[in-house]
Parts: sequence; C-alpha cells; structure tokens
Amino acid sequence: MTSEVLQKARDFEAHYGPHIPEAERPAFHATPTIGWMNDPNGFSFYKGVCHLFYQYHPYSNEWGPMHWGHLTTRDFLHWERLPAALAPDREYDAAGCFSGSAAELSDGRQLLMYTGVRRDRDEEGFIRDVQTQCIALGDGVNYEKCDLNPVLSGPDLPPGGSTVDFRDPKIWQEPDGTFYAVIGNRTDDGSGAILLYQSKDEGKSWTFVRTLDACHNQYGKMWECPDFFPLDGRQVILTSPQDMNPIGLEFHAGNGTLCLIGDLDPDGSFARKYTQAVDYGLDFYAPQTVAAPDGRRVMIAWMQNWATVGAKPDQCRWFGQMTLPRELSIRDGRLYQLPVRELERCRGQQVVHRFIPVSGEVNLPGVQGRVLDMTVTVRPTGGEIYRWFRIRVAKDGEHETIIRYKPNESTLKIDRTRSGLPHDIVHTRSFLVRPKNGELKLRVILDRFSVEVFVNDGEQAASSVIYTRQEADAITFEAGGQALVDVEKYDLKL
Ligand code: FRU
Repeated sequence: MTSEVLQKARDFEAHYGPHIPEAERPAFHATPTIGWMNDPNGFSFYKGVCHLFYQYHPYSNEWGPMHWGHLTTRDFLHWERLPAALAPDREYDAAGCFSGSAAELSDGRQLLMYTGVRRDRDEEGFIRDVQTQCIALGDGVNYEKCDLNPVLSGPDLPPGGSTVDFRDPKIWQEPDGTFYAVIGNRTDDGSGAILLYQSKDEGKSWTFVRTLDACHNQYGKMWECPDFFPLDGRQVILTSPQDMNPIGLEFHAGNGTLCLIGDLDPDGSFARKYTQAVDYGLDFYAPQTVAAPDGRRVMIAWMQNWATVGAKPDQCRWFGQMTLPRELSIRDGRLYQLPVRELERCRGQQVVHRFIPVSGEVNLPGVQGRVLDMTVTVRPTGGEIYRWFRIRVAKDGEHETIIRYKPNESTLKIDRTRSGLPHDIVHTRSFLVRPKNGELKLRVILDRFSVEVFVNDGEQAASSVIYTRQEADAITFEAGGQALVDVEKYDLKL
C-alpha cells in the first residue's frame, strides 16, 4: 500500500519534474527528479539492472524530511526516473528515511535497508534524533516497510554506542547466503566507528559481529556512510567523516572522505594498512559502491559538500548531483579510480595536438566545449623547468575554472572562484600529485555543471561543481616558463 505521504511525493514529482528542461540538467550525471538530492543509496543490481536511490526532498531545493528518490541505469550514464521509493510515513522514520543500501533476495524481491529517524526528548528535555535500521521489500518500484521494523536499534549496539548517531547501513550477501551490514556509529570517545552485523534470514534479524574499525578521534568525528568490500586481493573501507581537521594537503577541514585499505585477519577482523582521501576536489561525499555483474567495483558519490550547499543558483528546481560512476582498483596500496569505460562509447570526434610548446595563454584549434573528455599531458621542454601550468575551462570574458599544476611543489590546484557561484565559500583546493618521469597526465571530464579531474590514469581524482553559464565554453593553456603539452579531446555525445 502506498502511504499518503509517499503518494503526495510521487504526484508532486510526476507533475513538476517534467517542467525542468533536460538542457538545464547535466548531460550524464544523475540529478533528482525535482528538488534536493544528497547521498547515493541502494546502488545495486536487481534483476540485471542497476538501481540508484538517493536522499531526496522533492518539495524544495533544500534538505528536508528525507525520502528516497529512485533511478535506474543500464550504462551508468543514462538514468531512467522511477517514482520515489520511500517516504517518512511511520512513527519510527517520521523524521526521515536516511541513507542505506539494497540487495536482491532469493525470492526475487528487492530489499531496501535504511536508517529510520524519529525525534525524541532526552533526559535534559532536548529534542534528539533516535536512529534505527529498518527494511522495506519490493519489486523494484513499490516497497512495503516491514512489520518487524526497526530491525536494529539501541539494544543491538555495543557498549558506549550512541542511538543519536547510528546510521547508513551498507549490506551485501556472501556466497553462503549470509547477509552482512556495516553501519556508522558514534562511540563513547565522541568519534566514529564502523559496526559489522550479520543476518541469517535475509535481513529480518541481525546480530552484532564486531567493530570493524574506529576513528579514535584521529580522522574527524562521526563516520558516516561506511562501505566495505574486497578489491584486488585487499579489503577496503570507505567512510565519510564529519568534523575533519586538515592533515597536510591530504585531508581538508569539514566533511571529508576516507579510504582505509587493509587485509582481513584469519579471525575476520580488519587490519588497516593504508589511509588516503577518496577525492581531492571541492565536492565529493558519501560514496557508495556496487559490485557489477561483470566483476567491476563501481563507485558513485554525492558531488557536493555539506559546507557549501547554500551556494546554488537562485530558484533552481533541482539541486545536488552524483559524480560520474568510477571503476575502482588498487595499485601499490592506493585506490585508483577511472570513469566507467562506458563513457568511451560516447566519445565523438577526436581532436589531437601533440608536443605543443606552451608559454603565453593559448587556445588550441578544436579544443573547447562543456560536455567533453579531454586528456592533457604536460612535461618540460628539455630546457628550463616551467614554474606553473594552467588549464582554464568553462571560460569566457568573466568566468573560468582553473586547474593549475606547480611542478616544484608537486601540487595541483582546482580554482572555481569564477565559476558561477557568487558566494563566499571555499573555492580552491590544492593537493599533492606524483608526476611520472617528469610528466603529469590529467583527464578532465566536463559536464554542464561539473569538472572532474583524474590524475595519472586514476591515481587521484578531484571533483567540483560549477554553475558557469553554458556559453562559457573556451579552454586555454598557459605556462610560466615553457611546457610541452599533449591534448587529446573528445566531445561526448549522450
Ligand atoms: C551523509 C548523511 C547521512 C545521512 C544522510 C541524511 O551525507 O548525513 O549520514 O543518512 O546524510 O540525509
């Protein structure tokens, strides 16, 4: 039975969603049907089709009582819109259906596991969230919340675990049929932990297994949206810490992302070996992965930052978009990410320039546009080393988004100060890169409202949203000193 609250959201999005012209959306990045989007949820395959749900408030371009919006895709680039899947319509989720995940059950139904949030007064009379884990079962379009809800709540927490911050279950099934879920929790040291639970009855009842890893106030505070998966012979944890303090140029202040690479000990516990940021740009949070049927591990994230969500075009009718889905791998203890290979099928005409000496600002014939896939390799000319190299994209007389490399510092900087967001927010971010034999390779993916940079064949990625008017489509190259540059550019046809 569709509740009144869900029906209202479905009627609203069906009526107003189609009013938004496709040209006012990104060409291939997922956006909400209407209103607000945050975290990706339930990124999973069901009956051979990839489903992506998302944190959704259809009625405004701001966060509000969370629903789950729903999209499907067959190529990670084209998105079909389905009606909203969940609404906050029960006592236990009246304050929101927060983030979660999805899986296919043996009886052919699709399981959604999410965090139900209700509001309660604590001992001091303050209103607090109570977060529990809930399930809903359905056919890929309509879902029934389970009578057993919540399936995990306060009594299921290990000692010291907080019921205010207990959220974002990510589930998976092992070959023996057992389901597991990792869930974020705040512990009694005030910082985050990732709890592992197990279910032998396809999600109806759960038992606590262990704390998989914990923050101990080292990487931010509360750890949101955990994910846990095997990759290239190792185990990976992804999580999104709140209240980070910067650590050099690796982690910035505020909401960050953290990748922990390690191994499983024989007793099943996680031994952490390497840590890094997931993305080094301005807008990236709450990544979630899916194991694709062809063996790829594909990650998608909310291409936004909680600190800057007030910076949006006036009266926009959609806000929030997902990153381009990325294929993950591990090399030398580092997480690599590359745009899904399906993007290459969308490449149109190729423009190539090789070994171009660049000093003053230059345009190269055929190199412009706002929906494109461009790889730029920069190296010294053999003479004096250049001091800096700049790529400017989404450029006209007033606007530009700058990608700047300084070889003597090995830093790459994204600067979107003049990218259509006239708000006093953080507009620049720098990070350390590792040139190979004196060369740096940058793959720049532009969609209408974003710039994603992949460094050295996926060794690092940096994502930023921009709202520059679409007519600003010039691209230029410039060096302090002289650099030798290759450019290979494709328009993308979706
Ligand atoms: C992360 C997050 C999640 C929560 C959701 C609420 O961005 O705070 O922890 O489930 O957003 O919309």
